[in-house]
Amino acid sequence: MNTIPMLQFALDFITLPPAIAVASKTAPHVDIFEIGTPLCKAAGLEAISAVREVCPDNLILADFKTPDVGWLEAKMAFDAGADLMTVIGGAPMATVESALKTANEYGKEVLMELTGVRDIIACAKEWRQVGVEWMVYHRGWDEEASNRQWSQSDLDTVQRLIDMGFKVTVTGGLTAETLPFFQNLPVTAVITGRAIHAAEDPVSSAMNIRSTIARLWGGPRPYDAASPAGSVDLLTAAKAIRWGVSEMDLLLATDGTDCPGCDAPGSLCQGTKTGIFVPEGLNVDNLVREIERIFGPSSAFGKINYAAFYLDPAQIADFSAAAVTQLLTAVGNALLGLGRRVDVNAGLSAANQVLVN
Ligand code: 5RP
Repeated sequence: MNTIPMLQFALDFITLPPAIAVASKTAPHVDIFEIGTPLCKAAGLEAISAVREVCPDNLILADFKTPDVGWLEAKMAFDAGADLMTVIGGAPMATVESALKTANEYGKEVLMELTGVRDIIACAKEWRQVGVEWMVYHRGWDEEASNRQWSQSDLDTVQRLIDMGFKVTVTGGLTAETLPFFQNLPVTAVITGRAIHAAEDPVSSAMNIRSTIARLWGGPRPYDAASPAGSVDLLTAAKAIRWGVSEMDLLLATDGTDCPGCDAPGSLCQGTKTGIFVPEGLNVDNLVREIERIFGPSSAFGKINYAAFYLDPAQIADFSAAAVTQLLTAVGNALLGLGRRVDVNAGLSAANQVLVN
């Protein structure tokens, strides 16, 4: 099975407040926050500790690109709250070893930053000997500005590093649109900076990049359901929807009270409309928009409030058992497209059990 690369967001700011603001908003959609080199220089260790405070659940990488005194810079980064730090590829082996020794003592990681390294494979062989495990494959901003394009030779080098056993992260002007170029490489993380922090809506951009990663690197595939034939009444369709979404691990908005069951006289769900909580970290508007993209415009689904949406088979234009299955499929595929691992198959099979009985 393919492993889905992590999304690392590079906070390349020159003051701390905008970095903190965007980090706290994007935290649910990002795996690793990088304290970018400019921010490390502008705000120092406070940048690491401040991001740690507002994003306690994310990994943090300090992009020091350390050239000397490896042990001290590693200690400073880790004491401030970082989980990973970078050493520049041109650093002497003694610096690499001393940073690694400190990282091992802390149970943290050092990454070799490959900017400017000419013979990457030769260096990688030496680094392997001293225990380096991670590297950052980087097209620098200045190289990008002087028109250095990504090429097959970059892909070949990254693949060779991965074959040698390294965990490799890739970066340098990457966007959701350029990611397909890298999709056959089992990289450990994709790093984007400007594509998120310079976007009009950084949260949507982070979500879009993360779902693009999930789609390209072999996350769950959109499900193409076989539709049940035959007719069904609206209350049965509503029950099928409730069973289906529950099997997809979504919480009904009635949850929290003991449910007597769909067929019991005191059933909590009345009528055909079912309220469903949006999984934590997902934006209800984005989810509803994605369902609409797949199912088409309809009042059979919609936003209830910031935390919940509804499904209502009574509002399906050409109502049928097949259309109910299509609506549920659209919900499952919308969640997959937004990077959520849901078992669409299990949901549809539970719904079909109700629909065909
Ligand atoms: C520059 C960096 C950046 O953090 C890295 O290039 C990611 O930023 P972007 O996606 O904007 O290129 O290390 O030296």
